[in-house]
Amino acid sequence: MSNTDRCPGVDLFSSEFLRDPYPLYGALRETSPVHRDPGTGLWLVSTYRDVRRVLLAPELYRPDNALDAVARLSVPALRRLAAAGFTLPPTLANNGTDSHAGLRRIITGLLARDRVVATVPVIESLLAPRIDSIERSLATDGSCDLVTALTRDLPFEVMLKVLGLEGKADADIERLARWNDASLELFWGMPPRERHVELAELAAEFYQWLDELTAGARPGDAGLLGLLAAHRKPDGAPLRREERIAVCYFMVIAGQTTTGQMLATMLLRALSEPELWPLLGRADRRAALWAEELLRREPPLTTWRRVTARPARLGDVELPAGAQLLLMLAATGSDDEVYDAPETIRPGRPRGREHLAFGIGRHRCPGAALARTEAEVVLRAVSARLPDLRLTCAEEDVPMRGLLSFRAPVTVPVARGTGVGHASRPADGP
Ligand code: HEM
Repeated sequence: MSNTDRCPGVDLFSSEFLRDPYPLYGALRETSPVHRDPGTGLWLVSTYRDVRRVLLAPELYRPDNALDAVARLSVPALRRLAAAGFTLPPTLANNGTDSHAGLRRIITGLLARDRVVATVPVIESLLAPRIDSIERSLATDGSCDLVTALTRDLPFEVMLKVLGLEGKADADIERLARWNDASLELFWGMPPRERHVELAELAAEFYQWLDELTAGARPGDAGLLGLLAAHRKPDGAPLRREERIAVCYFMVIAGQTTTGQMLATMLLRALSEPELWPLLGRADRRAALWAEELLRREPPLTTWRRVTARPARLGDVELPAGAQLLLMLAATGSDDEVYDAPETIRPGRPRGREHLAFGIGRHRCPGAALARTEAEVVLRAVSARLPDLRLTCAEEDVPMRGLLSFRAPVTVPVARGTGVGHASRPADGP
């Protein structure tokens, strides 16, 4: 029996998988931990041990395919992208060449721990007027959606400050969110073919906007743009136009989308535990430890890709050179070989911070500290100001947005007062 037959019924884009992916994760880990998915041609790697092993061997398991479109894009869509000069050469997550270390140093410098610590008052000051406005909507309309009111835009505003881009990036957030969503769907989704051109159009506009943003930068300018303009690659050459754009393109997606989705998931899950929610507002480590558990169990970046540089043996499977791997990050956090009762949210559990939500090794997410800080500050502040907030529908009725590598609630509808607050998952609160 081939390893495809041992675990039938994999559909990474089905509504059933989107709603509850955990049964499939369990079946894959149990019966076919390195599993060839005929639907996408990807090899699904689902155990903690195998995913960690792949991430720690970047010469054998290369990152080159990290940003490739999973769907075969239509010719008119490709033409539209080409007309905008759209290309994503190796820079950060998709870079297995010797230019990676230098580019990564720019980002790790901007996201260094002391700079992240200094963002706490910045996050708080951006958050306060948003909570005021949520409070007003709740008072006047009776309800509010925390995705549109908070989680979609806040990470973008924070990122602009951290990267020194505020005042330079003048696009309105609505438009950026549309560009961002279109890029995600185009590269990590399976959109119907008739949508390809429309999505390519939006991704191309986004690219052209970044082109204008990066083109005017000079060495010595503040923040990311100045650092990119001054940067020299190992051969002494400056970055090409498309390399500068590609860094910014990835940073927007990495810094905004993942963090916004993380916040939406955390707010949804926390609000579905009526006893837990008001406690997250206390001035202790509770919110941080609880958020860490959610990152383990339900990370916003559910998968990430690698490609084999040469034939390799992973578990008991022989992989050919060029095998496209889908590392199932979200499955690794529920691997019961590592985590006892993984479905239980148990803040402070053993090895609780060793999850792979941020990857590990050479490409480990340099934004992890910023993301963790945003989670803690947001959960604590919203809970402290609105301890009686509640979901207005059952947690399981909230629609999820799902792409190959991203999963998060589309909306987090809330009101004030006691009410729904469905507790459908174990509430092992602190
Ligand atoms: C909850 C939020 C986030 C999650 C779950 C997340 C997760 C990840 C993962 C899984 C990777 C790939 C690791 C690999 O290829 O081995 C990654 C890479 C990266 N992330 Fe994040 N990320 C988050 C937030 C952020 C933020 C806020 C930023 C920046 C402001 C950021 C910047 C990056 C960059 C630049 C890379 C590429 C690093 C490299 O290739 O050297 N991420 N992230």
